[in-house]
Amino acid sequence: MSDTTVEQPHQLDAAESATVRLVQITDCHIFATAEDCLQGLNTRQSFAAVRDAVVNHQDGLDLLLATGDLSQDGSTASYAYLVQAFEGMGIATFWLPGNHDDSNALREHFTGKWIHASKHVLIGNWQIVLLDSTIKGEVCGRVSAAQLDFLQRALKSYPDRHALVCLHHQALDCGSEWLDRKGLKDSDQLRAQLAQYDNLRAVLWGHVHQESHHIIDGVEWMSTPSSCVQFKPGSKDFALSREAPGYRHLSLYADGRIETAVHRVDHGNSETS
Ligand SMILES: [Fe+2]
Repeated sequence: MSDTTVEQPHQLDAAESATVRLVQITDCHIFATAEDCLQGLNTRQSFAAVRDAVVNHQDGLDLLLATGDLSQDGSTASYAYLVQAFEGMGIATFWLPGNHDDSNALREHFTGKWIHASKHVLIGNWQIVLLDSTIKGEVCGRVSAAQLDFLQRALKSYPDRHALVCLHHQALDCGSEWLDRKGLKDSDQLRAQLAQYDNLRAVLWGHVHQESHHIIDGVEWMSTPSSCVQFKPGSKDFALSREAPGYRHLSLYADGRIETAVHRVDHGNSETS
């Protein structure tokens, strides 16, 4: 990431022994106008259903993570809508860009009392690092040398804190050929670097619009459904799934354990699973 001014960690209040509770919302694909749809789905309506489910069903959240493709068109109007929606939740929110976002517009306009630009969060016995995996003008991603350096400095500065690392693109292939072609270039390099850190507990991403959860050598690797359309798992070519929009809840325990679940919503704003 070119902007190095946000590397100062953001400290959120919580006792060292506290369990950190957070929600990841990803791939909202909000348009400039309220009527626009993605693959026939109104993304503002599905996002609103996800947001309402979080507000109504998840008590005691410490923070929210918004992991890219927040906007479909990178428009100022889409970010203005998102600011209002996230500020209304009154929960500390941290974000990273996706390939559909305009990084400059996102940094300039997606800001508020509760929305923070910091990419290194300290809370309880944990740290959360948010990486920029986007390449301007491309759908696929890459974690640049500058981002790998940022990751290294962050994790080495706090070796005693458990670490959750977030990015937009998939750190592990999802098994859909068309989608993995649009994934992370040099993902081997990222995984090789991540393997060096004893304090790494989990890696979390969006982009693939589907749920996955693998535990490899004690580290949890997870993707999360979009708040709008879902892609069909295991599909060779582009295909949509009929699964509902969703989000992921995580509890990060002081001893490094993680509990997590994906929750889906329907368009009546009620939780379905
Ligand atoms: Fe997306």
